[in-house]
Amino acid sequence: SNWISVQQARRAESAGSEHEIRGWVRTRRDSKGGFSFIEVNDGSCMGNLQVVAPAELANYSDEVQRLTAGCCIVVRGQLQESPAKGQATELHASEVRVLGWADPETYPLQKKRHSFEKLREWAHLRTRTNTLGAVMRVRNRISQSIHQFYDENGFFYVNTPVITASDCEGAGEMFRVTTLDLERLAAAGGPVNYDHDFFDKPTFLTVSGQLEAETFACSLGRVYTFGPTFRAENSNTSRHLAEFWMVEPEAAFFDLADNMDLAERFLKRLFADCLEHCQEDMEFFDLRIEKGKIDQMKSVIEKPFQHMSYTEAIKVLEQCGESFDYPISWGTDLQAEHERYLTEKHVGGPLILTDYPSTIKPFYMRLSDDEKTVAAMDVLVPGVGEIIGGSQREERLDVLQKRMAAQDLNEEEYWWYLDLRRFGTVPHAGFGLGLERAVQYVTGMTNIRDVIPFPRTPGNAEF
Ligand code: 4AD
Ligand code: MG
Repeated sequence: SNWISVQQARRAESAGSEHEIRGWVRTRRDSKGGFSFIEVNDGSCMGNLQVVAPAELANYSDEVQRLTAGCCIVVRGQLQESPAKGQATELHASEVRVLGWADPETYPLQKKRHSFEKLREWAHLRTRTNTLGAVMRVRNRISQSIHQFYDENGFFYVNTPVITASDCEGAGEMFRVTTLDLERLAAAGGPVNYDHDFFDKPTFLTVSGQLEAETFACSLGRVYTFGPTFRAENSNTSRHLAEFWMVEPEAAFFDLADNMDLAERFLKRLFADCLEHCQEDMEFFDLRIEKGKIDQMKSVIEKPFQHMSYTEAIKVLEQCGESFDYPISWGTDLQAEHERYLTEKHVGGPLILTDYPSTIKPFYMRLSDDEKTVAAMDVLVPGVGEIIGGSQREERLDVLQKRMAAQDLNEEEYWWYLDLRRFGTVPHAGFGLGLERAVQYVTGMTNIRDVIPFPRTPGNAEF
């Protein structure tokens, strides 16, 4: 068939030929002259295609007059230049076929605008709305650009396991994976014996693919992993999910400066690609979600990211005169409110914070000469806060062993990780970017639940 997408059909160059489009009705209105105007969207772009169905469609006219929002139709006809503004073409229908009706009494996405909160109850339908459709196209763009960027920069895409025995971040926020009936065992008293579990030991859903990615970096050189990660953190915030997607590059012979440079070039590339390839969607976000988003992105791409050490940041926060909910002093972890103050009010753009106290960061970060801080870097952005976390890794066996002991980690469980330091150890570094936080920043969407198809948050696994 000579099917084209709505995106293709909307372009002026398609005018004058016979085509078929397929999609879902957004609205229909009838003119006195016996024409029906049907707005059709097929998800290929934000805009709809206007279908003009003339009265002569006798066989079908009854069906056309019954079309309502949500119906699925196939339309054949002539693409003609459109007199209406905002669209280059419209389709003059010679045939309208209804594939699926949608009962207007029960179809939830009627003309009335729903809150994003309400739309979450219809996660299976909400991507038919303008905003969620645009979010998912931008999310796709970012995912594709992630692969392109690393491919172009000589990084191999590797797959790290979802089921793992190690807690990379050491935060104890892991979901357990087990075949044991824990409830029954607990009711029976006695200790739980993992010898009879599927893997003969406790296993969990991964919180990060980093440790495994490091093994690849120490063999293939430059790699990245990109997949779902899981955190059983019971935080109900607008930027935390129990299941989120993370891209984690890891590179041998990289130090902290190389790592920061990579992170900055990487983010700028993602932003530039969204502006270039998702123009219509970005204009929508700029207009409807966060005013000035496009100019903001452009200026972020142009200017170098600012850098600041954790120690300097603490000074700024102590002296700024702002009253925070959480008190801050050297050695405490930054809360969202502190991160947002620094990036929104102090810098007014992305900020790379470095050299955090070793006591608030995981065991694998490289200890600095001062023996108090580690070669860590977090990238903070306005509106979202932390978007990237990373570091240079500890490549010295003895120092790593000391840090593991200090954090009560069992060396035997990390024998393979320590082997990387025993056999041909190499300075290396990497970071993790939360895909959803990147989508939030680019689109201006305030709640992370609205930038992932089926959000997993405490108490929410409806779909
Ligand atoms: O800072 P995090 O915990 O770092 C790591 O996991 C490292 N192992 C990464 C590495 O160096 N390879 O997480 C990295 C990023 C955060 O900056 C944030 O963007 C995102 O992952 N993230 C979350 N996104 C959504 N919901 C959550 N609960 C998140 N936790 C972290
Ligand atoms: Mg972090």
